[in-house]
Amino acid sequence: MTDFHTHVLPRLDDGAKTVEVAAEMLRLSFEQGVKTVLATSHYYGKNRSPKEYIEARNNSYELLTPFIPDGMTIKLGAEVYLSERTPLQAEALAPLCIEGTRYLLIELPFVKDWEEVIYDKIGALVDEGCVPVIAHVDRYAAFINKPQRLLQFVEMGCLLQVNASAFLERGTKNFAFALLKKGYVHCLGTDMHDNKERKPDMAAAKSAIEGKGYTAEWSALQERMRAMISGEEWFMPALRPIKKIFGKFY
Ligand SMILES: [Fe+2]
Repeated sequence: MTDFHTHVLPRLDDGAKTVEVAAEMLRLSFEQGVKTVLATSHYYGKNRSPKEYIEARNNSYELLTPFIPDGMTIKLGAEVYLSERTPLQAEALAPLCIEGTRYLLIELPFVKDWEEVIYDKIGALVDEGCVPVIAHVDRYAAFINKPQRLLQFVEMGCLLQVNASAFLERGTKNFAFALLKKGYVHCLGTDMHDNKERKPDMAAAKSAIEGKGYTAEWSALQERMRAMISGEEWFMPALRPIKKIFGKFY
């Protein structure tokens, strides 16, 4: 399995506070069957240039290296916060793409809707050849209130990432399964920050998804992430409209 979104690198952001916590996060993930982990610590662009971030990230990764389980691969990336104030420097952000790929994990601001400037910045990234992957789309009221907004991002050239926990929590389950059924889950990640509140939960998501009979969707999702990271060709699932009726998604 691949975990597309994690904060496992120690002492780099609000994720793993110590090397020991990070090592335990990796151990638990590996035990659950996760073989590839994307390290996507926050990048806010305020205090560090991408170059400085990459230096700090390499140092953090070095601390963690002795604790990577045999048979597990870590790929370095970032979760880039894109706000109306983020300086437009697509070519500068490209080094933050997931190692060896053009995929750039993007965190959007948590607002009711996004200002035009956000769409412009996304467009500029696409024009530069990046493929923005919108992080945890299950967490935004703007998408939950109006799922058609997801289509807008996909049509611009973005991919969508959903958190594993969305399939487990009462408040988000229905939305997450509708996203899966209708082809909107391009990538899945735990977004793990620690071993307690935001812990490795990929195996639980797998059970929940397969338990509902979506075994083929699960396999396709894992195969897609593997191919994406390996630079192989993959096919976009067909997107079907999501209907929202009396607060439920179909
Ligand atoms: Fe995150």
